[in-house]
Amino acid sequence: MSTPSLLILYGSQTGTAQDTAQRIGRQAQRRWLQVRVLPLDDYNVANLISESLVVFVCATTGQGDPPDNMKKFWRFLFRKSLPAGSLCQLDCAVLGLGDSSYPKFNFVAKKLHKRLVQLGASALVPVGLADDQHDLGQDAVIDPWLKAFWDKVCVLYPSLAGVTPLRELPPKYVFHFLDTVKETTDGRMRIPEGSAVPSQSHPFPARLVSNRRVTDASHFQDVRHIEFDITGSNIEFAAGDVVMMRPCNAPEDVQQFCQLLKLDPNSQFTLSATDNTAGVSSLPQPCTVRHLVESYLDIAAVPRRSFFELLSTFSTNNLEKEKLIEFSSAEGQDELHSYCNRPRRTALEVLADFPHTTAELKVDYLLDLFPEIQPRSFSIASSLKAHPHRLQILVAVVRYKTKLFKPRKGLCSTWLASLDPAQGPVYVPLWVKKGSMKFPKEMDTPVIMVGPGTGVAPFRSALQERIAEGKADNVLFFGCRSEFKDFHFKTDWEEMRKAGQLALFCAFSRDQGGNLSIFVFLQEDKVYVQHRVEEQSKLLWDLIANKGAYFYIAGNAKQMPASVCDALKAAFQQEGGLSVQEADQMLDAMEKTGRFQSETWS
Ligand code: 2AM
Repeated sequence: MSTPSLLILYGSQTGTAQDTAQRIGRQAQRRWLQVRVLPLDDYNVANLISESLVVFVCATTGQGDPPDNMKKFWRFLFRKSLPAGSLCQLDCAVLGLGDSSYPKFNFVAKKLHKRLVQLGASALVPVGLADDQHDLGQDAVIDPWLKAFWDKVCVLYPSLAGVTPLRELPPKYVFHFLDTVKETTDGRMRIPEGSAVPSQSHPFPARLVSNRRVTDASHFQDVRHIEFDITGSNIEFAAGDVVMMRPCNAPEDVQQFCQLLKLDPNSQFTLSATDNTAGVSSLPQPCTVRHLVESYLDIAAVPRRSFFELLSTFSTNNLEKEKLIEFSSAEGQDELHSYCNRPRRTALEVLADFPHTTAELKVDYLLDLFPEIQPRSFSIASSLKAHPHRLQILVAVVRYKTKLFKPRKGLCSTWLASLDPAQGPVYVPLWVKKGSMKFPKEMDTPVIMVGPGTGVAPFRSALQERIAEGKADNVLFFGCRSEFKDFHFKTDWEEMRKAGQLALFCAFSRDQGGNLSIFVFLQEDKVYVQHRVEEQSKLLWDLIANKGAYFYIAGNAKQMPASVCDALKAAFQQEGGLSVQEADQMLDAMEKTGRFQSETWS
């Protein structure tokens, strides 16, 4: 049998599935295979019937949905009209990337695997279910899965078994540096033409109107209320939708990176692709090194194992090379985890730890080494009905300590917090996506919303929208640490409450005097949203059982959503006289019909 051509298709939301797909692509190239690596929606699915070997790498997003770049494929694949044996010539393998702390763990990969087999494809290996929650990260599943896959491929195509793997792969792109500085379009923003709706490829440069800290200066967390002007953008959104934007690296990180690699940030280059595993680069041509590092290379993320694999091939310094090879090996994963993942060490910090190797790094490989900075999403916190031409978000600036000396910072929230419209006009390229949370259209359907902390953002949008439409029966449970420090949108809620438009129940977890010691706050003294839900069992039962209310939860994962569900089920039992089992069934039924929705993140 001749050497096969391998097609690797991925569905990726945050870039991990893309990185994994590309890593499999490199392994295939080393084995001298013809290989194509593509996002699922860039591939013409109708051609699947003539493929012989395909690997699917698919993430599952928070609520069990497929990533955006495979949604078209997903709809096509589940068409009822597809004949049962249409993929009978196909050997396939499905690798899922998921997070077992979410309810629908690897749902997309499991469903895809089942569907492919149903359509007649032969699965070479069982579906791989990588888990972000695994102590050793997703590689703990991916590595053995890949080994089993390649073993199977070698059985199918015995000619592959004996080949000597290629040592060094060419870079995806070659950089051509310009001798003279030219006019460049990088950093220049173009407004999408005509009536086009802004999208990832054509974002709208929205003017930053305000960026205000809303938590008290003495509060541990900096939370920002940020407003953008979207006049003329054609952007429309409804409550529950999200806004997307791509952050930039901090100027000091860009400077340090250029110093380590001895790159002049002002130098300019053009790119040419060397093989068909590389997508089309979205970088402007020519592009400055500064723009590349600031807006494209994800140097602030924790690097993946493939980063060490590639880095080790450049190193000529014995000590560094040995360490890098160890980090790339299956046996070195524990150590890599303690060095990188646990303390959240960034790629830039790793480069600084391996100065000899970094100095030898070939620029051409930068786009192989670093993934592209991925867009981040934020729940929209306003409604166009209350704030025409405006879009507002509520952002907690992520900052925490690990064993490393420097505190860890969230890339996007830190970048957003640094933008200051008082220093001159600031434009942020953004676009809007439908969210998974949907609010009832009918006028008289009540909504009950539980949103502690920044989880309250989509509910402000929903309340503004509902109030503008005259919809009554709005109930909000809000939780924060202190009425005086992190009570987001307090005046908005007060106004709505006074106007009779909102029933508000607050849980201030750390405002209780009582047993409070200045050193420890006893857990049992804390009042949380679930306690308020418990107290309001009569009201909730009436709204849900008699008035068809919808129930929503949004906020940081951990125990909150489960505790709120328990409190709600307890209300069903107490007020409705349901058994434990009946209360469970009632909540399940509400979830199935969209009357119970939860959006949580960690
Ligand atoms: P805490 O920080 O005092 O524990 C918003 O973050 C609010 O959610 C805070 O008041 C926080 O309280 C609270 N919170 C933390 N863990 C929670 C849980 N398991 N259930 C409900 N609320 C929680």
